[in-house]
Amino acid sequence: MESLSALNIIGLPEIIFGAGKFSELPKIMQSYGHNALIITGGESLKKSGRGDALPLQLNQAQIKFKAVSVWNEPTTQAIDAIVSQFRKIPVDVIVAIGGGSVIDFGKAVSAMLASDGSVKDYLEDVGTKIPSGAKVPFIAVPTTAGTGSEATKNAVVCDRKEGYKKSLRHDAYVPDVALVDPELTLTLPRHITIACGLDAVSQLIESYTSTKADGSIDPLVLKALSGASESLLPLALGQSNDISLRAKMSYAALVSGITLSRSGLGAVHGIAGPLGGLSPVPHGIACGKLLFPVMTFVIKKIIGENNIVAQKRFADIGKIFSGDAGGDDIFYCKQFLGVLDKWTRTLKLPQLSRFGMTAAHMEKIISLADSKNSPAVLSKEEIKVILEVVR
Ligand SMILES: [Fe+2]
Repeated sequence: MESLSALNIIGLPEIIFGAGKFSELPKIMQSYGHNALIITGGESLKKSGRGDALPLQLNQAQIKFKAVSVWNEPTTQAIDAIVSQFRKIPVDVIVAIGGGSVIDFGKAVSAMLASDGSVKDYLEDVGTKIPSGAKVPFIAVPTTAGTGSEATKNAVVCDRKEGYKKSLRHDAYVPDVALVDPELTLTLPRHITIACGLDAVSQLIESYTSTKADGSIDPLVLKALSGASESLLPLALGQSNDISLRAKMSYAALVSGITLSRSGLGAVHGIAGPLGGLSPVPHGIACGKLLFPVMTFVIKKIIGENNIVAQKRFADIGKIFSGDAGGDDIFYCKQFLGVLDKWTRTLKLPQLSRFGMTAAHMEKIISLADSKNSPAVLSKEEIKVILEVVR
């Protein structure tokens, strides 16, 4: 991770990255105290087998811990329930070991254990209270390679009844430590590897081409995009046990979290947000499915509007994805789309109706969707066309 430490990026967690680094967890926890709350997902850590020795190791390190398992995405009710259980118990450090949802759970619980009331009171656009930034120290240990939540300052919290997905956000909510061990992702099922990988790729593309991108971490983002494009299809097509490919995708996910915190996201996430709030479509599937049709409209618009700046940004990615040389920016924009098309045809993601997205959801999604920081703003009619393609 030389490239990360050399960049002196403000607001990052302490990053510990590498195969086998999970074994350092007890020592890291010890530096915060001796009472821990460990939040895990239902399955992933168990399946990997990497957590089996953890209770004994914690015992040897004289760390007392309580463990909580969580399922599905964090909801206000589930977060409040965990917080009320642990408010009166000493907790020196919280560790979340799991996918993006588990890490968001941990992030929200670490914030709410130092705050009064319900997490709902502090959500952007929903609550009336401003998060103070106070929290219990928090260590994020991703077992998937996707959301990059281990490096972001927000936790996404959903309320499907009210149909929203909103953020609990504060600069101080960036995890204190991101312990990223690609070995933890080796046993991920294929469909989760693909969905998470496509989420990371979407985040990298959208933040790199965002109107808010300031160029300051471009080398980092382009390196992550290069690794993601080298590993996505091989991981999906039989090389899921290759630790060097897993490491490239874990790195891509981590950097996607770093860059999205700085530059924001675009229309894929602008549509995926309300889509996931209103219907139970997994976030990575939504992003992966939306990526090609959304980018088809975006590229058409930036070429039609002669947006040279955006063309250059997409061309940078097109060069990396295609490995070609010798064309102009418009050529590489088209190469970029060509590679997304190839991924879409190869990975054959299911239509979103299979996950419960209905025609009735569409009108509401269209009314709530936006283009975020995309260099091309999609109209409601265009969003409707895209949703019809993916449903
Ligand atoms: Fe995402």
